[in-house]
Amino acid sequence: MTHRITLIPGDGIGPEVVGATVNVLEATGVKIDWERCEEVGLAAMETVGEPLPEAVLDSIRKNRVALKGPVTTPVGKGFKSVNVQLRQKLDLHANVRPSATLPGVQTRFENVDLVIFRENTEGLYSGIETFDERLQIADSTARITRAGSERIIRFAFEHARANGRKQVTLVHKANILKKSSGLFLDIGREIAKEYPEVDFNDRIIDNMCMQLVVHPERYDCIVATNLFGDILSDLVAGLVGGLGVVAGANIGTEYAVFEAVHGSAPDIAGQNKANPTALILSAEMMLNHINEKEAAKLLRSGLMDVLKEGSHLTGDLGGSSSTTEFAERIIYFINQRRTELQTSPLEHSTS
Ligand code: NAI
Ligand code: MG
Repeated sequence: MTHRITLIPGDGIGPEVVGATVNVLEATGVKIDWERCEEVGLAAMETVGEPLPEAVLDSIRKNRVALKGPVTTPVGKGFKSVNVQLRQKLDLHANVRPSATLPGVQTRFENVDLVIFRENTEGLYSGIETFDERLQIADSTARITRAGSERIIRFAFEHARANGRKQVTLVHKANILKKSSGLFLDIGREIAKEYPEVDFNDRIIDNMCMQLVVHPERYDCIVATNLFGDILSDLVAGLVGGLGVVAGANIGTEYAVFEAVHGSAPDIAGQNKANPTALILSAEMMLNHINEKEAAKLLRSGLMDVLKEGSHLTGDLGGSSSTTEFAERIIYFINQRRTELQTSPLEHSTS
């Protein structure tokens, strides 16, 4: 069957890593009819007059699944983040970000295997901000709701249960933010009782940062409000090889948008240098989501072959290959694997 999927190349390194990922996906044999939405962010501001045109949202509403490159957000001024708007408007409430030690990727740790569940629609990202010009006072409201907290915490526990994971750690700052973080923690403690087979504990965010950089192997699933989840995602990326290798999925009840944890990396954009691993692993999550399990396995095996081989790595992993060379090497291994799969039954029958 052919899947119709929305493709958002984004900007910065977006088009480079998206291009590489699309080619690698094609090599697996999975049939995807891409609906390309080129115009988002600054480009769309200039042509359509808004950073996230309704046509892009409609495309995802229709296709239900999207693969997305990063989109630059102006700092301190200008339009509201396309990424945040997309998550809020499509109610993609769960941001799932697995970080695991990868073969061939040198890091300080050997056994990191974490999944972060970041609440994706509220918290300090609610967009409730005011500025009193006269008094020069700025307020940003961290809105935490029972409904929003229940669904992300339950999502984390359900994931743990379905995947045989042993522990969920809830991250908060309930000692200071007694109301908002306090509510999140209370709900976590309530829901944990429904999952007696999963260990539950909680950590205050600052302590959690220290724990993770010293003993990441002690943690498993981590559930956090929006901003804490955002910060922890980049921290944890650093434990397994950096932002070039960490995937993500924004999941709602209706739609799902797959994108890497990293941003548009303006410092290396347009140089064919970016590591597409993060988006390729996001595409693997997408293939599993659309039930293309065989293609997902092929994609992963091709990527792992290249990482293990170690001779075609991008700069962030200590190599000197380009985005394109890295992707071509994955395609080489995928083709090899597909040929083996096609010929092995034949060999069997002749022997
Ligand atoms: P960033 O994630 O773009 O880059 C941080 C550092 O990691 C840079 O040194 C960059 O070169 C490196 N890096 C990131 N991805 C890489 C890759 N695939 N391969 C090799 N190196 C990689 O974060 P930064 O610089 O804070 O943000 C840049 C822009 O991206 C901002 O406008 C921000 O708002 C936006 N952003 C967008 C996101 C999205 O579209 N989902 C997520 C995060 C940031
Ligand atoms: Mg982030």
